[in-house]
Amino acid sequence: MCEVPVFYATTEGQTKRIADRIAERLREHGLDSRAMAIASDETAAIDWNRVRGAVVGASLHMRKHQAEAVSFARLHNRVLSAIPAVFVSVSLAAASMNADSVAAARQLAEKFAVDTGWRPLRISSLAGRLAYTQYPWLVRLVMRHIARKEGGSTDTSRDHEYTNWESVEHLADLLASELQQPGNAAASHAELRPSA
Ligand SMILES: Cc1cc2nc3c(=O)[nH]c(=O)nc-3n(C[C@H](O)[C@H](O)[C@H](O)COP(=O)(O)O)c2cc1C
Repeated sequence: MCEVPVFYATTEGQTKRIADRIAERLREHGLDSRAMAIASDETAAIDWNRVRGAVVGASLHMRKHQAEAVSFARLHNRVLSAIPAVFVSVSLAAASMNADSVAAARQLAEKFAVDTGWRPLRISSLAGRLAYTQYPWLVRLVMRHIARKEGGSTDTSRDHEYTNWESVEHLADLLASELQQPGNAAASHAELRPSA
């Protein structure tokens, strides 16, 4: 039972942190919200009749969002397109000093919507985290090389966060105000419930 679920897929944990903050902020607005992993029993058991709005978050690895997020958005594209729902794409390119990289991250986020057939109310491309301490040594080396090119930190002794938490909160604030507008008070998409 959750009115505004914040679904997420994560590989190193940053999208979960972002999802947790969005859900917390939505609760501060008086909405019933919780972050839940896409690949979880909680998500599988979601009662779509009660869902008034949603957020789906996923992160980029090798220019791709997690496969489970793609499948999930594809499976539920009709119901997600019928309610105020936001897609959040988390990447390092979004934090780049290079405008082309920032634009490329945005394009990959938009491609997610095209590929899944989901028309989100809004697409947000957010900067994530360089999680050097979690990477195997070869990945650490590659990520350090990319960071050097993109203007990120090359200090591999610790992690570096690039997420703009004010943008995260703003995203939640906007969604809350859309959900609290008169006329958006009740779910009206029962006929769009997925049969699965
Ligand atoms: C192996 C690997 C590949 C990555 N590939 C990309 C990429 O193609 N584009 C990008 O912008 N960021 C890339 N990143 C950075 C991640 O998107 C970033 O660290 C993000 O915060 C990860 O989010 P998560 O912790 O929720 O998985 C990559 C990171 C790793 C470790």
